[in-house]
Amino acid sequence: MTTTTRQWLLNGHPRGRGIAEDDFKLVDTELPSPGEGEMLLKTHYLGFDPAQKGWMENIADYVAPMNIGDVMRGSGICEVVESNGGKFAAGDMVFGTTGWTEHLVHNGEGLTKVETSLSPTAVLSVLGTTGLTAYCGLFKVGKPVAGDTVLVSGAAGATGSVVGQLAKIAGCRAVGIAGGPKKCEWLVKEAGYDAAIDYKAGGVKEQIKEHCPRGVDVIYDNVGGSILNDMLANIATNARVVICGGISRYETGQLPAGPENYFNLVFRRGTMAGFIVLDWAGEFPGIRKRLEGFVNDGSLKYQEDIQQGFENAPDTLQRLFSGKNRGKQLLKL
Ligand SMILES: NC(=O)c1ccc[n+]([C@@H]2O[C@H](COP(=O)([O-])OP(=O)(O)OC[C@H]3O[C@@H](n4cnc5c(N)ncnc54)[C@H](OP(=O)(O)O)[C@@H]3O)[C@@H](O)[C@H]2O)c1
Repeated sequence: MTTTTRQWLLNGHPRGRGIAEDDFKLVDTELPSPGEGEMLLKTHYLGFDPAQKGWMENIADYVAPMNIGDVMRGSGICEVVESNGGKFAAGDMVFGTTGWTEHLVHNGEGLTKVETSLSPTAVLSVLGTTGLTAYCGLFKVGKPVAGDTVLVSGAAGATGSVVGQLAKIAGCRAVGIAGGPKKCEWLVKEAGYDAAIDYKAGGVKEQIKEHCPRGVDVIYDNVGGSILNDMLANIATNARVVICGGISRYETGQLPAGPENYFNLVFRRGTMAGFIVLDWAGEFPGIRKRLEGFVNDGSLKYQEDIQQGFENAPDTLQRLFSGKNRGKQLLKL
């Protein structure tokens, strides 16, 4: 029996500009019944990541290209509705890269069963790419030691808020940079950051100096551009600069000029390194367990921003670029 499903297809490559409404097209598609070893899945939640814009642009070479007419790539939590000898049984909940589609036929490759003591959506947030990115970027690249000062940009976002809390668990001082007084208040009162800097109020460089008087040992950058430059102005000797993301440049045509303060890396014997979290995929099960343990013992809090309705998927993605999201951006179908 065939199933008719709604799908959001890629309809434009937003290179050098923000995402537009007509970069997506909503269609009805007939799915075949699952073949031998396949399953029919029903999507319950979608997860959103700024990297999806890079995938739409087709410029990221660490993932397969996205072509016009492809189902929009993204993470999801799905229920197995029917299994024709597939990897999972009917009724199981699974997560992975399932795309913007209400139903799909899948062979289970790359999908993981939802098994957690937390709410099921945690597999897309604190136990998903978000938490894993925070953990791997901080500990494997930033290598903080107790007593270090860790400075995080995009600090109130899904990834950034986890980074600051992991830094605190590691015995560091955590200072965050975020947009607006409400997010900054949340960082200090709820997420346990020692201090927060509102970049929208200006004077970022001066505030970094004030809140990090001995210099910054680990920079965890989600933003790039002038904020990265201001952070580089105040690094300590042997600083580690972790480049996780560069959301400030995702909507502009031109890449920003190189950070003029980069030469502090020489004066302070610092290092700067980027990373792709997928490089540690083999360690994800163990890292998920650690993150789950931190949540259960009360040392790690996480926030999820759950919007509603499959038809709102494009608008929900846009919330990441306007800063409207409060924590991990999800959508419930
Ligand atoms: N390297 C990897 O393997 C990897 C993996 C996953 C994610 N990432 C990166 O991690 C970063 C965080 O992702 P996330 O999913 O946790 O998103 P997020 O931080 O929850 O959401 C994005 C936030 O970015 C801020 N922002 C948007 N435009 C900005 C601008 N022009 N200047 C400064 N800040 C801006 C907004 O917060 P404000 O209101 O504070 O501006 C917004 O809430 C992204 O850069 C993403 O690409 C990297």
